[in-house]
This record gives sequence, structure tokens and C-alpha cells, in this order.
Amino acid sequence: MNTYIGIDLGTSSVKLLLMRADGAILRTARRDYAVSCPLPGYSEQNPEDWYEQTVEGLGELLRGVSRRDVQGIGIAGQMHGLVLLDRQGQVIRPAILWNDGRSAAQTERLNREPGKQKLTEWTANFAFTGFTAPKLLWVRENEPENYARIAKVLLPKDYLLYRLSGGFYTDPSDASGTLYWNVRNGRWSEEMLELCGIRPEWLPEPVASHVVVGGLLPELAEALDLPNAVLVAGAGDNAAAAVGNGVLALGDCSISAGTSGTVLIPTGSCIADPSAAVHSFAQADGGYMQLGCILSASSCGKWWIERILHTKDYDGEQAGVRTEQPSGLYFLPYLAGERAPYNDPYARGVFFGLRQDTGRVEMTQAVYEGVTFAFRDILELVRARGIRPASAVLCGGGARSGFWPQMIADILNLELRLPENEEGPSLGGALLAAVGCGEYPDLPAAVASRPAPRRVFLPRPEVTARYEEAYRFYHSLYPCMRDAFSVLHRLF
Ligand code: XUL
Repeated sequence: MNTYIGIDLGTSSVKLLLMRADGAILRTARRDYAVSCPLPGYSEQNPEDWYEQTVEGLGELLRGVSRRDVQGIGIAGQMHGLVLLDRQGQVIRPAILWNDGRSAAQTERLNREPGKQKLTEWTANFAFTGFTAPKLLWVRENEPENYARIAKVLLPKDYLLYRLSGGFYTDPSDASGTLYWNVRNGRWSEEMLELCGIRPEWLPEPVASHVVVGGLLPELAEALDLPNAVLVAGAGDNAAAAVGNGVLALGDCSISAGTSGTVLIPTGSCIADPSAAVHSFAQADGGYMQLGCILSASSCGKWWIERILHTKDYDGEQAGVRTEQPSGLYFLPYLAGERAPYNDPYARGVFFGLRQDTGRVEMTQAVYEGVTFAFRDILELVRARGIRPASAVLCGGGARSGFWPQMIADILNLELRLPENEEGPSLGGALLAAVGCGEYPDLPAAVASRPAPRRVFLPRPEVTARYEEAYRFYHSLYPCMRDAFSVLHRLF
């Protein structure tokens, strides 16, 4: 039977998945790479690592399987990253990632002049630190020698697509996060290209996510023994995760608790609002979505357990966490600054309410509560626009936790479905490839083939009520500290 490969080019690793044409997942593989942080608030990666680890991961994924059956490959990628190539197709500088806070000044300037209103008219969004346009302006102002060499500006998955196929393509879902794509009209924004000094020939050709853009480069097809595989344009990781999670219907919701945390809700039309920190992006099926993003989700758990507690025993550390009662301690999860709802690169992590008798378990609980409250902050922004999902699918590392899904259901007051597996983005990539190769007539048909959720968590009304006050208090803490965060930034 035909098979399809999905590649999730994530922040801490590339995850690969092999799917049979009928939707069964045959195998997965994963290869890690590093994020470098040359200065506080900076976040960079070497694009060559993405390519090398992907090729190695493909070798592992395909060991012992019939490679001639592989018909298509779809890539889902971390969004917003800035990859600059010179005329020879060589990377000019390390990629600046979605959680990099260096372009605060450029972001503030864009939101002042031309201003949020105009930016929203041109692109359906306003500027956030971490979006591609402010980072390109940062390079123009701070690294003129690099800027002068630019021949191509790509997003991470589009760079990988180029290395695998030799072609320059992107798709609307990923282009949406650049701030130089007009989400409403589905084309590059001329106003923003001019404002940012981007020449049209620097940009990849936009095509729909499931469209076949070419085959593997001949030497790679031979080395990997994949003579029949074509590549589709792919999608941003959140859009692809929604596809993998079967979330295409209006008002449904996909929550991803990975390095970042996102809440994604498909909408029928492009809802653009310059007053709220939720993004209006294109979805991989040609529709639209509302997407809210917190910069540190599972990464807070990783920071706390691995870096601070010096262990990898997640189960052991989480064993004592009570999900029926708030811990009484508060954690602001802004380890990398915060996108929604504050758009503040200077925000930092905080424990609030430590006492003499506070122990390890309460602190562990507080970390996960804090991230969940931050998810709730996004949901409140969306609910304020009258969009009220009744249930959501959870994917990403957080979906594997023994206690976190129930805590999320309680604090968000939302029914939570756990899919058959947590490989949302890579599965979405494989499904896009299967649609592109004609295996399914369209994306809804591909998504309809997904199995029922493996578990459903219902909010427990008495616990939801207990957490309500704790959430309100959490929400009141950031405004008290905003100025202190700016001072801290000036001091260190
Ligand atoms: C979404 C966002 C993150 C990255 C992480 O806007 O910045 O979810 O896509 O992979």
C-alpha cells in the first residue's frame, strides 16, 4: 500500500512519521538539535542542523520498510523563523526563531508607525516580537553586511523544502506569520514589502499546502532510495497540527502544549482585530483561524524538572501533584517573554507566594498551573470575541502527562479530547501529502478518516469553580510587574 511521510520541523527536534494511505501510523522517528541563546532573549538555530537531522531521521524512519511505496512528503514547520540565503543559496547567518525577543524596538516602531490599524488592514495582524518582519528590520539595522547579501528570505520549513527539492515555495498558513503576507487576500502585502525593503524576488512562491511542488533532488532520492516521493508545500506547525488532530470544523479547537503553547480555532472568515493579541492566520484547508500563542508551555516543565531539579524523572516529580485543589502558589511562565496576551519580550518567569513551608511538589504544581492559566488567558481573548469552543483536542508533549490534561480541562472549563497519538503536526504533514497525491479527494475527507479520540477529559465543575478565583488572581499579577520587568531588562 502507498505510504506518506510527515516531517515536523520543531524547535527542539525534528519528528518524522510514516503513514499508510489508509491513515494508519506505521512508525515514528525523532532527532534532536540545539537552540542557541547567544544573548539573553535571543534564540537561534543552525538551518544546516535541520537538514542533517532530517536526512538522518529519514534513514531511521525507513529502515526495513518498502521505500518504493513512499509517494509523498509533507513538512510542518516551526513558524516565523527568519532564514536568509545569499545568491549561492548559502545560509547567511543563524536562523532567528519564533521565540527570539531581540526585535522589540522594531516591533514597537511598526505598531506605532504605520500603527496597528494599518498593519491589520494590510496583513490582518499587527507586529509581535518573533514575527518575521520585525526580525528582518533588525538585521537591516544591526547587520547591514548580512542584509546586503540577501537573495532569499525563507521560513524554516521552506528552507528544508528547498534543501530537499531545490525549489522555493511557501504556503499561506506559514506565510501568515511573516507580517508581510496579506492573510485576507492570500498574497504578499505590497505595503509591507516596501516598508521592510523586501524585494519580491527574495520570496518563495506561495501555493496551497497540499500542492505538489516537486520531487526530491536526484542525488537525495538515490541516497535515500525514494524514487517515487514528491513533496507538497506543507504548513506551519500549528495549522498542520490542527489537520493531524482533525480540527477543521468551525468552532472546534486545537491546543498544543509543546515548547510553545497554542490555542487554534478555525473560523469561516478572516477576523482581524488590531486590539487583541490573537493572530488571524490562514488555515491549511484554505479557511482561516484564530491562533493565540504563549512562548513557553511544556518548556516550563522541562526547565523546572531538568534544569532546576536536575532530574528527568517527570513521573516521579509529578506524582504528588493534586489536580483538585489550587496549589496556592503562582508561577508566571514568561521564561522567554510573552506573546499572548501581552506582547512583552521583557516579561520574565516569577514564582509568587513562596512560604517557609512551600515544597518541591507545590512548586511543580504551580509551574503547570501557571502555564495552564496562560492558556486560559488566550482562551479569554478568543471568548471575548464571541468564539466559545465547547471542546478541544490536546496535542504536544503535554498530552502525554498523567495529570495535565485533566488540569487543563478544569482550568479552561473545556472538554478535552486526546487523539490516538500526539504527533499532530507530522501527521498533518503526511495527510497533506496524501491529499496532494490524490489519495483523498480533499483535506476534510482525509481528516474524517482519523480514529476516535483515545480519551476524553471533562471539566469537573467543583474543581473549575475552585480554580476560577486562582485564575483571576494570576491574571492580576502581570500588570503589577510590567514596569519591574522593563527595569529588570535595563539592569541586566
Ligand atoms: C505560533 C508560534 C509557535 C511556533 C512554534 O505563532 O510562534 O507555535 O510555531 O513551533
